Amino acid sequence: MWSDETIVAFRKALLDWYDAKGRDHLPWRMNQDPYRIWVSEIMLQQTQVNTVIPYFNRFVMLFPSIRDLAEADEEVLLKAWEGLGYYSRVRNMQVAAQQVMTDYDGVFPSDPAEIIKLKGIGPYTCGAISSMAFGLPEPAVDGNVMRVFSRLFEIGDDIAKPATRKLFELLVRIVIDPDRPGDFNQAIMDLGSDICGPVNPRPEESPLREFNAAYKNGTMHLYPFKSKAKKPVVMDLHGVVVRRGNAYLMEKRPSGGLLGDFWTFPLVEEGPEDEPIGSFTHVFSHRKWRVQVHVQEADSKRELADNMKWVLEEDFPEYAFAVPQQKMWEIVKKHERKLF
Ligand code: ADE
Repeated sequence: MWSDETIVAFRKALLDWYDAKGRDHLPWRMNQDPYRIWVSEIMLQQTQVNTVIPYFNRFVMLFPSIRDLAEADEEVLLKAWEGLGYYSRVRNMQVAAQQVMTDYDGVFPSDPAEIIKLKGIGPYTCGAISSMAFGLPEPAVDGNVMRVFSRLFEIGDDIAKPATRKLFELLVRIVIDPDRPGDFNQAIMDLGSDICGPVNPRPEESPLREFNAAYKNGTMHLYPFKSKAKKPVVMDLHGVVVRRGNAYLMEKRPSGGLLGDFWTFPLVEEGPEDEPIGSFTHVFSHRKWRVQVHVQEADSKRELADNMKWVLEEDFPEYAFAVPQQKMWEIVKKHERKLF
């Protein structure tokens, strides 16, 4: 481990660089509001910064406070998240907002031991909020941070394993700047997303190059080590687009499953025999859907199941469409343009 002098010099090099080159324009860095920081960190978990910015601005305009989020209508909430995917993230956030209203009088808790009790908040998000909103010296270790620290210290542990994150948390607790922990964590994130990125890092430009063991030893290409994730299981499905005039048959998907509670054109395993009008694939974290899309005119005798209804095309904008539904709809529209 580094000497105390090295640790002090490291903090200074990192924070001087952050003050000069950090991304201070990011809208969630405008102030230390735990609500804004929380929203941004949840959005940033699976999505790039540039994609997140407009979603973030819209979200905090629609739901400016924890109370607004706690009381939001589910369709409006999902609509605000439309296209970001991983919808359980926003559902959990609403549950957490309700927890804050009932358990903490609407005031976001400032103790990490309480923050971690909120639905959907794990060690990373808890550390990010604790350090950035409340100035506590807590680690916020995600993939970017593990990449930076694995190179600095030539740590070859498998970053796909949960236990490895704990190791990096111990390390960050030692080197984090106690006076500016939020800036420290965000400076590491900024480095990890650019100069110390996963592809084509530029260590010679890094403010940390003299501390970087892998760079000095020519072993950068070995770090971080990550074992391969299991391939997602492939499912072949048929999207059946049933039309009656300007209305389309829609199905509300079962709660808890993939795209739970979303309205989609019916997706079935055994499809019609006819030629599909198009197809697409969609990858979830553990599943890959290969979907063939068919169109049919309605069969008037058909009884509707409880979770189905006819929806007019002009009413589509009122629904949050998950990406697979958007893809099906694009295929239908393209097909129509070809026909007419
Ligand atoms: N990625 C995750 N959290 C971030 C943050 N606060 N700033 C920039 N990128 C991030």
